[in-house]
Amino acid sequence: MKILIVGSGGREHALAWKVAQNSRVTDVYLAPGNGGTQTEKKLTNVLLDPLDFEDLATFAEKNKIAFTLIGPEAPLVNGIVDFFQSRNLPCFGPSKEASQLEGSKAFSKDFLKRHKIPSAEYEVFTDSAKAKAFVTQAGTPIVIKADGLAAGKGVVVAQTEQEANSAIDDMLTAEKYGQAGRRVVIETFLEGEEASFIAMVDGKNILPMATSQDHKTRDAGDKGPNTGGMGAYSPAPVLDEETYSRVMREVIIPTVEGMALDGIPYTGFLYAGLMISSNGSINVIEFNCRFGDPEAQPVMLRLQSDFVEHCMEALAGRLDQQTAKWDPRPAVGVVMAAKGYPAAYSTGEKITGLNEISNPDVKIFHAGTKTVEEDQPKTITNGGRVLCSAALGANIAEAQKNAYAAIEKIAWDGAFYRDDIAYRAIARENRTETE
Ligand code: AMP
Ligand code: GLY
Repeated sequence: MKILIVGSGGREHALAWKVAQNSRVTDVYLAPGNGGTQTEKKLTNVLLDPLDFEDLATFAEKNKIAFTLIGPEAPLVNGIVDFFQSRNLPCFGPSKEASQLEGSKAFSKDFLKRHKIPSAEYEVFTDSAKAKAFVTQAGTPIVIKADGLAAGKGVVVAQTEQEANSAIDDMLTAEKYGQAGRRVVIETFLEGEEASFIAMVDGKNILPMATSQDHKTRDAGDKGPNTGGMGAYSPAPVLDEETYSRVMREVIIPTVEGMALDGIPYTGFLYAGLMISSNGSINVIEFNCRFGDPEAQPVMLRLQSDFVEHCMEALAGRLDQQTAKWDPRPAVGVVMAAKGYPAAYSTGEKITGLNEISNPDVKIFHAGTKTVEEDQPKTITNGGRVLCSAALGANIAEAQKNAYAAIEKIAWDGAFYRDDIAYRAIARENRTETE
């Protein structure tokens, strides 16, 4: 069996690595993949653009691809699933219309409100004077969001009115976010701890993935600018048993039912970014229409059941008959990034130490890397987020220790990483142990 995975990040490496473990799978193609997927058994990179649907569909037809998995949001929001379906090619992901849950914050906020799913109060604006008047009236802190896709950079948590106004100017007047910022959502600031809840959905049935939490900001202590994600761990201790059931009941089930009721059944990975406050309230911060990156890396490391079977059954609408099995050990993934990220970064730096990692509980997933053949193959940096060291451990502290021990062996000029990934979960673990 042959499988195609669209994308080039750490998430796609993790999905491909897991898919390849099925003995019936002979080949996993990545379009376009990265330096890690290029060198791994059963995996092959194909130089295809994730947004060139015609080329991708032709490749899938010619190579008799059993099904295609889509990693990033851009092809989904642009309708790759609809395109593949029109050619009778199985492709797991939401339709263009359903992907609006991520593609338009105004769409998702209206959806949440209509179906009474808890989320911050909000208003949508296209006029900057009206937006600013709303900020004056509502007060700070307040959150300003570009409506469309902005690669994780379209959200400003403004502490002062001045910050809020300059975000409004950037989006609506200077069009710094292009089309994505022509409409803004302004919403109430929510306090609490964030968690990622990702599920496979077949239009009707839900197969939840293990819970996870990521660190979105660049610097230790959750400070500095927002990034695509600097590290993640699974499970998310904040989602204890009771909170987990409430998330299913108050968020995930009503979302899947609401989409079906609205005539836009949702198929694919559904990612709810949640804020869990200390007073027990649960709110949706955002939806993504895909697996999280870097959440996929620790989550895939823990998956013990057959991911290929889950995907095929999801495509057949039979997820109600599937159960996912997870390694009871937690996993931590730490991202190594290139100097300058999330702003402009350098590329082409030689990475050393990749072959020195022998701990079987560690997997280095590649993201922005490229393998070049000279006298010997060498791996160089080719993106902002470069690698993710993902590790299992008897507890979160040990998983973290294993991930960092591997990172210490890897180097390139300008590499950096956060040294505190999973600190909240470890603090919780320590509290529980001393209780
Ligand atoms: P989003 O792209 O919507 O997930 O937003 C990016 C990040 O901004 C989130 O992960 C949160 O850390 C933060 N954020 C977004 N909306 C809110 C909110 N209403 N209250 C507090 N923080 C928020
Ligand atoms: N890690 C956050 C995301 O995938 O959007």
